[in-house]
Amino acid sequence: MKFFLDSANLDELKKAIAWGVIDGVTTNPSLIAKEGVPVEDQVRRICELIDGDVSAEVVSITAREMVAEGRQLARIHKNVVVKIPLIEEGIKAVSILSKDGIRTNVTLCFSAAQALMAAKAGAYIVSPFIGRIDDLGWPGMDLIKDIVTIYSNYGFKTQVLAASIRGALHVVEAAKAGSHIATLPYKVLQQLFQHPLTEKGLEQFLADHRKAFELIEV
Ligand code: G3P
Repeated sequence: MKFFLDSANLDELKKAIAWGVIDGVTTNPSLIAKEGVPVEDQVRRICELIDGDVSAEVVSITAREMVAEGRQLARIHKNVVVKIPLIEEGIKAVSILSKDGIRTNVTLCFSAAQALMAAKAGAYIVSPFIGRIDDLGWPGMDLIKDIVTIYSNYGFKTQVLAASIRGALHVVEAAKAGSHIATLPYKVLQQLFQHPLTEKGLEQFLADHRKAFELIEV
């Protein structure tokens, strides 16, 4: 499973890259707005830090404008994947950009029917938002399972990216469901390291070592 960082913050990205487990980055207009830097500049800086897919989202809502904006974003760097919302005009734009050879990440996906439309339009990635579905009391992970099943039934090349991830369990469940990618906020990435028995076990090993050898070494 690929891990993407769901953040436009360069400090978080540098720390995540140092762990050697990140394969790419996803941004959205809210994450870019948080950094207060125009999308083109921030995405260019992100592409300079990581050699992997970097999703940058359009903010227009007509197919014609999304195609123009998408072509502009794709010119920033070869690793840019153009993020397009799953609306009618969005699917129209995905079809056109796919024919241009521009890779798209279809975002704000909340149903298997929507995911089918994205795949048929030639999307490179589809992003079902599992956390926001859970928030409504529905099992977001079922959507990942359905999309993975449908895509494998027909051999669709579109990759499933589990988005709106809220914790370590979402990552494990998405991996078990066969999601190709998970995009994680920085704090969730940190959670993946943690287990109380690991800390307790290491403490005991080091204490035993100190007790046995450090006395001798002095
Ligand atoms: O970047 C897309 C998505 O992962 C954001 O999810 O629900 O945490 O805003 P959320």
